Amino acid sequence: MTVQVILKGFGEVIKEVTFRIRRYDPEKDTVPKYMEYKVPVKKGMTVLDGILYIKEHIDPSLSARYSCRMGICGSCAMIINGRERLACQTQILELNKDLIKVDPLGNYNLIKDLVPDLSKLFNNHKSVKPYIIRNDNPPTAEYLQKPEEREKYAMFTECILCGACLSACPTMAADDLYLGPQALAQAYRYIADSRDMGFEERLNVLDSKHGVWRCHFAGACSEVCPKGVDPALAIQLLRGVLMKNSFLGYKQVPAPVGKERPTVVEGLKVLEEKIKESEKK
Ligand code: SF4
Ligand code: FES
Repeated sequence: MTVQVILKGFGEVIKEVTFRIRRYDPEKDTVPKYMEYKVPVKKGMTVLDGILYIKEHIDPSLSARYSCRMGICGSCAMIINGRERLACQTQILELNKDLIKVDPLGNYNLIKDLVPDLSKLFNNHKSVKPYIIRNDNPPTAEYLQKPEEREKYAMFTECILCGACLSACPTMAADDLYLGPQALAQAYRYIADSRDMGFEERLNVLDSKHGVWRCHFAGACSEVCPKGVDPALAIQLLRGVLMKNSFLGYKQVPAPVGKERPTVVEGLKVLEEKIKESEKK
């Protein structure tokens, strides 16, 4: 009985909501403008569903970026009712408003409507070398790491590069060349990783005019991050590492390499022999 009621309710229009969306096409418009659209809302509809409804039924020229529709790819970050959010994870009914204002992420150039140009985010991310750097011999097996060593950076691995934190950051608004919370959090993520030896290689970028010292610790990045990453904390921890380096020197003790494991072919041979042995019994 309850199941029937739930299923019936799922398809019903519960209310009509007005979407006020910022539109801008650099090829046609001189200034951005807001346009309003009425969207019938059903239970479970997200803001992204509302935007796709508008595209399909009212105005196909509306542009937005999305991919996974499940909060993983980070493509659909935008400003919804004044706050950076993932459109595919924002339930319209939970906003509890009859008017939903949608703006593209701030602090980026705009490609069109709700599609920001994220080159700055990706270039800054690349500039901190977001990968394990080693200067010893190539490993013959995996690097060993204790659970408590992984804990030191685990939270910062959750970043999906949605770009919301750069949009919310007041320092980014004042300094277009600032590395930004996303790149700084990723720099800390790798420096704190016990397998890494790349601190020196990243130092020039981090300890620069537009690097880690530029942050004013507004904390807006951590407030809006849809994945619970705390870039403001990473920036403070990174500053601690740089301070330590200035006074005492910062040494990374690289994680050891584990025992060599058999190759897949060798492993299959062992398995085959074990099967043969068990068949003999
Ligand atoms: S830190 Fe959070 S807000 Fe910033 S890019 Fe990563 S997931 Fe998005
Ligand atoms: S579409 Fe992938 S996070 Fe929203």
